[in-house]
Amino acid sequence: MTRHGSDVESDEHIDLDALLDQFSAAFRREADIAVRAPGRVNLIGDHTDYNDGFVLPATIDRDVYVLLAVRNDPIVRLRSANFDESLEYPVERPPDVPAASWKSYVTGAIEELRTLNLVSHGFDMLVTGNVPLGAGLSSSAALEVAVVFGLQSLLEFELNAIDCIRLCQRVEHRYAGVQCGIMDQFCSRLGRRDHALFLDCRSLEYEHEPLPLADAGLAIVIVNSRVSRELAGSKYGERRRECEAAVDVLRRSAPDIVALRDVSADLLHAERGNLDAVLASRARHVVEENERVLQAAAAMRAGDYGQFGQLMNASHDSLRDLYEVSIPELDLLVSEAQSTVGVLGARMTGGGFGGCTVNLVEADSVEELRGRLEWIYEERFRRRLDVYVLEENHQTEILFRAR
Ligand code: GLA
Repeated sequence: MTRHGSDVESDEHIDLDALLDQFSAAFRREADIAVRAPGRVNLIGDHTDYNDGFVLPATIDRDVYVLLAVRNDPIVRLRSANFDESLEYPVERPPDVPAASWKSYVTGAIEELRTLNLVSHGFDMLVTGNVPLGAGLSSSAALEVAVVFGLQSLLEFELNAIDCIRLCQRVEHRYAGVQCGIMDQFCSRLGRRDHALFLDCRSLEYEHEPLPLADAGLAIVIVNSRVSRELAGSKYGERRRECEAAVDVLRRSAPDIVALRDVSADLLHAERGNLDAVLASRARHVVEENERVLQAAAAMRAGDYGQFGQLMNASHDSLRDLYEVSIPELDLLVSEAQSTVGVLGARMTGGGFGGCTVNLVEADSVEELRGRLEWIYEERFRRRLDVYVLEENHQTEILFRAR
């Protein structure tokens, strides 16, 4: 598979045989199992998941890989090929590790499984991957899912996909300190090849929406601004609290409201005098974004990608102006893309304050878009960017099992 326009270390193509060799070199024994879990790109529906709303992400063709071999003692040995770091500890005594580090996601996932009595003895684990880190493509969700799915496949305990997803979300809450919604872990675990995933984040009902982009002559292009999301954690928490504050106000006149999911545009309009301007803007984004996701899913089912692109553009405007989670770098990349011939829609994707944009593009306009964005980005911000053309949607799966 070809990769375009990137020099990040994580861009390297990952070869299973090479991984199995790495495992043997690291642990002086053979792996029993190898699994992978993909990152995701959110096509539309941002900051709706923790408001009990709707999202429409798709998995990408970049993954976290986990290789494992069981041990007959209680020792856990972990190795990250990306970070060239190792960790060893008795399974009952996890060490203190820095929050939001690879070690915290991995030991956190193991701890969550251990408290459910699903893991009690030792194993050797090699972790690696090519999801860009801190780019808003859910490398941490992919890591959590790969670790849990890997251990489940190795030890063959019962854990349904939804419980796996909730457990992985808890890891993010408890070990990374980010009160994220459920979209990322859900998409990584249950996203499917050649499909986007429509998810109702309240009921957790979901549908795999066929994404026959090649047939339609279209491509999804992800543009990484390479601005790391420094503010992401604190501002993310602030947005969540603002949404809760808006719900508190709205409940005074409509007590049945549980989350912004329950608020209609009409109610919001009627209540505008009671909400302060910031809360009103935040709520309006969520209410309208939910509506856009429903419309986008319908457009996708109808093969109306022109309409889908328009909804993406409107989503970006709203994230920039009402929800205020964009940054000038993302705004430039989006507006430049939107004015490029052959681009149907463009928006920032994920939590914001850095990370990526997602673009729906006619396949034969991809190179034109890449060239324009690289040039203007360098010109305005003196920065380089990475462009990933999504070639396929991966899914969480077992790649290898020793007999
Ligand atoms: C991050 C979170 C998700 C979601 C998005 C914004 O990716 O992990 O749960 O809230 O931001 O849509």
